[in-house]
Amino acid sequence: MGIIPPLPQNSHSIVRIGGYALPNNLAVAPMAGVTDRPFRMLCKRMGAGYAVSEMVASNPRLFGTDKSRRRADHAGEAAPVAVQIAGADPAMMADAARYNVERGAEIIDINMGCPAKKVCNAAAGSALLADEALVARILDAVVQSVPVPVTLKIRTGSNPHSRNAVTIARIAENAGIAALAVHGRTRACLFVGPVEFETVRAVKRAVRIPVFANGDIATPQQARDVLSCTAVDGLMIGRAAQGRPWIFREIAHYLETGRLLPPPSVSEARAVILEHLDDHYAFYGEDVGLRVARKHLHWYSASLPGASALREQVNRTESVSSQRRAVDLFFVRLADACERLPYAANDAPPETAAPLRAVRGVALEAEALAA
Ligand SMILES: Cc1cc2nc3c(=O)[nH]c(=O)nc-3n(C[C@H](O)[C@H](O)[C@H](O)COP(=O)(O)O)c2cc1C
Repeated sequence: MGIIPPLPQNSHSIVRIGGYALPNNLAVAPMAGVTDRPFRMLCKRMGAGYAVSEMVASNPRLFGTDKSRRRADHAGEAAPVAVQIAGADPAMMADAARYNVERGAEIIDINMGCPAKKVCNAAAGSALLADEALVARILDAVVQSVPVPVTLKIRTGSNPHSRNAVTIARIAENAGIAALAVHGRTRACLFVGPVEFETVRAVKRAVRIPVFANGDIATPQQARDVLSCTAVDGLMIGRAAQGRPWIFREIAHYLETGRLLPPPSVSEARAVILEHLDDHYAFYGEDVGLRVARKHLHWYSASLPGASALREQVNRTESVSSQRRAVDLFFVRLADACERLPYAANDAPPETAAPLRAVRGVALEAEALAA
């Protein structure tokens, strides 16, 4: 693709998932409706060492839909291709794992982290955490059904009175799960309140398989703090990568050198965004591509001067060529006004300020224990 210079590798630790040694310890989190193939490939080009697909339903009746077909399309994605499956029936989950491996999945990830009603009403996603015996049966069935590594994504429990992430992690390790990602909130907490990095640290201490910490990591400094407080092997980043895929190289650079990279130049951002759009339109086609691109364009422009006018324009346009032209013009004009994107590399969106304090709280507690 040629736009982005090669990244410094993060030498802190090499994370291995089964036979795959990841290029670094930064992963883009699975996000339905966001981490489609074009976005995963973009994040990998911008420095994510690992990416997990949007979840794919385990119900075979849904395999033939356009959405499922797109989610099973991994053409051109750098290895390892990780596909997330969701469901509650062990045999169906095993079939879904086999189906996706036959279509190119090199790692199967099991979703026990998503609180979405669509998933949890069917007692899947994070709802499963309340039934440890069923968790064990699902993990056993999937691990035994495929010859590739199987990973698991969880929350810390069902609700603040029932935090069983450590027990689930041990069940997972016994079942042969190759790596764990832990979003440090319970299912009931949704996305609200501080991330429980203490629980993530307890999970890391309890198992020998690689553990990724997830939740509200939005700046290079937060990434460093979470790594040092929890001693996890890797970090998984979701919402902070929306509209900011270069966050992976910013974090990788900071972990490697201790120095913050400047924000991307406007001309680089323009090239990256247009390249994303071209890939995106080619993947979805004209109609769906035009609509699905809007949210990415809102995120890309959210903190930039003139964002609301651009938003209105990209929502109104009726062809991908005019949408692309509007974006191009917006960034050409922005480049006249400023050389670099107008944010500091340590800027975090306001909603992450509280969790940052929570991370620092763990750091202080760790220092107090060491003293
Ligand atoms: C729009 C959206 C869609 C998501 N879809 C999934 C999903 O399909 N599977 C899953 O395991 N988690 C899903 N998640 C949860 C994320 O993977 C992640 O755990 C969560 O956003 C916390 O990380 P963050 O604070 O870095 O965003 C989703 C989150 C968002 C915001």
